[in-house]
Order: sequence, then C-alpha cells, then structure tokens
Amino acid sequence: MKAIAVIKLGAPAEMIDVETPTPAAGEIRVRLRAAGVNPVDGKSASGAYGQVTVPSIPGVDGAGVVDMLGEKSRRFVVGDRVFGRLGHPGRGTFAQYVVVPESGMIARIPDGLDFGIAAALPVAGLTALGVLRELALSPGARLLVIGATGGVGVFLTQLAARDGLEVIATARPELAERARRLGASAIIDHTSSVALPDQLSALGVTQLDALVDLVGDKELTDTLSALIRPGGKAISTAGGIDPEKLSARQIRGSLYRGQPTREMLEELGALVESKQITVPIERELSLAEAPQALEESRSGHSHGKTILRISVSD
Ligand SMILES: NC(=O)c1ccc[n+]([C@@H]2O[C@H](COP(=O)([O-])OP(=O)(O)OC[C@H]3O[C@@H](n4cnc5c(N)ncnc54)[C@H](OP(=O)(O)O)[C@@H]3O)[C@@H](O)[C@H]2O)c1
Repeated sequence: MKAIAVIKLGAPAEMIDVETPTPAAGEIRVRLRAAGVNPVDGKSASGAYGQVTVPSIPGVDGAGVVDMLGEKSRRFVVGDRVFGRLGHPGRGTFAQYVVVPESGMIARIPDGLDFGIAAALPVAGLTALGVLRELALSPGARLLVIGATGGVGVFLTQLAARDGLEVIATARPELAERARRLGASAIIDHTSSVALPDQLSALGVTQLDALVDLVGDKELTDTLSALIRPGGKAISTAGGIDPEKLSARQIRGSLYRGQPTREMLEELGALVESKQITVPIERELSLAEAPQALEESRSGHSHGKTILRISVSD
C-alpha cells in the first residue's frame, strides 16, 4: 500500500510503498478514505513523544470502510463505514489501510456523514468535549477560550455555546465573524497591539468563570488567569497553565489528560448528524500532500480542520 512515513528521523515525511497490514485476532482492517490532521501528528513524527521506530506512519484520526476481519473480530462486518482514533504510534492513518483493535476508539459513521467530516472529528472533537466535561460549568458561566479558531477551538466554541455558556474567543480579525457564527458572543484579537486584558476591559468584562488554554503561551495564560474569579477554573491542552500557582488563588487549574470514551465519539457523530454542530473543514489535501500538512500542523497556526482524502489510486 501507499503510506506517508518518516523514514529518517528529522527528515520530512515522504510517500513510500509498504506491505499492506493484515489484522490479527481481535483486530479489523480499515481501507481509509480520509484522515484528519492534528498537531500531535507533526509532533510525534518528529520524535517529540519519545523514540520513533522508522518507517513511522503518522496520523491518529481516520475514516473508511472495514475490509478485513481478524479472527474472533465480531463487532463490525466487512463493508461497515467507521471512524475514530484509528492510528497508533508508527502505524498511523496517513496510509491506504490501517489495522486497529476492534475494541478501540472506533464507531460506525452515522448515515449521511461524509468520510472527510468523520475523519476531522475524533481527536479535536473528543478533546473539546472532554475539556468541557472536566470544567463542568453551569449555563450562563463566562468562559474565555484562548486559541478558539484552531482544530479543538472550533468544536469547543460550538459545544460550549450549546451548553449555554457565554464564550469569549480569541481570534484574528479575519476570523472574528467565523468565531461568532460558531457561537462566540465576544471576540478579542490576539494579534492586536492592545493587550488582551485591556480588550476585555473595553468589552466590560472584568471577571471570568473559567479559561481554556489551547495555545500553551504561559505568559499570556498567566496574565489572563488573573481575571478568573476565586472558585473559578482553568484548563490547558497545551501545557500553558501552572495548577499550583492557580491553586494559591483558589482557582482549580489542570492540564488536560484526555480519557475519551467510545460513547463520546458516538455522541459527537450524532451531534454532527443532527446538525447541532458543524465540522469546519479549512483544507482538503491528497495523501501525497500530507508532508506539507504535517509541517503546517507544527506551526500552531492552523484554522479549523485539515483533512487528507485517500483513495486506492493514490
Ligand atoms: N492533551 C490532549 O489530549 C490534546 C488533544 C488535542 C490537542 N492538544 C493540543 O492542544 C493544542 C491545540 O490543538 P489544535 O488542534 O486546536 O491546534 P491548532 O489547530 O494548531 O490551533 C491552534 C490555534 O491557536 C491559535 N493561536 C496561536 N497562537 C495564539 C496566541 N498567541 N493567542 C491566541 N491564539 C493563538 C491559532 O490561530 P492564529 O493562527 O490565528 O494565531 C490556531 O488557530 C495543541 O498544542 C495540541 O497539541 C492536546
């Protein structure tokens, strides 16, 4: 099969021919039709999470059709359309086929959902849902989202607004309207020369109930955390908060360590199918263009979701 892989650590990923995997007992094989791109793909491909055994195929998110069952695999049948976190370290979804334990984070694609939409959902959508569950805020609470226009942010903004939260989003001016359409009630511009606390003050916002950091800029998060009320909460997916420091001010801070469940994946699929949330796909690329997508995902400036369309003729 064709796959995108890192074959020399530090060098860009490239298209290679590798043996098509065969599912072992309890596994299924999925013929991929789309893969979603996340920052974790670029980071892990460059060895940020430990040693990489080459050739290493990146990609966690995927959607496709079950085309082979391992022994004792009974949850799916050949022909099922499935999506989820299908990639594992070194055996990722930037490929024509992937083998995955059938007990993993995988679900049937709801009718009417395109493979690309399904592939864009898992990592970012599950993170957004997980963060909101961990915050457990009541309707009406005021939440500041730092990094609201990225992959996680576009889901978080929608899910938070749907829960009745008042969402203040950071967004560059050209994306402000888009963030509003996703449910943000106010926007502050992180590219402006006016400091963000001053922009909040100009909007009449002097206190926050909670903050979500999706960027990892410790200084920025620290400055904005000063506005969280005692008893409020802060959470970061990108390492930008110091829980101990916040605790001294009676703020519950945490670094997000997601423990998503299959039920959450199914919930996300249902929310999209029933049009309660949308999947903002910013870019669609081919499998051959994945190295470029990996480079861009490392920049920390992606907007919405990027997906790869995959076909047998790639
Ligand atoms: N722990 C977990 O389980 C988990 C799961 C998923 C993601 N993550 C992490 O969470 C982070 C966000 O993921 P993602 O997929 O949303 O990333 P992404 O798609 O790259 O989005 C990041 C967003 O942050 C914005 N941004 C960058 N610098 C900013 C700043 N100084 N102030 C405000 N906004 C800024 C960017 O917009 P501009 O280009 O307009 O600046 C971009 O839209 C990443 O670090 C990722 O690795 C962790």
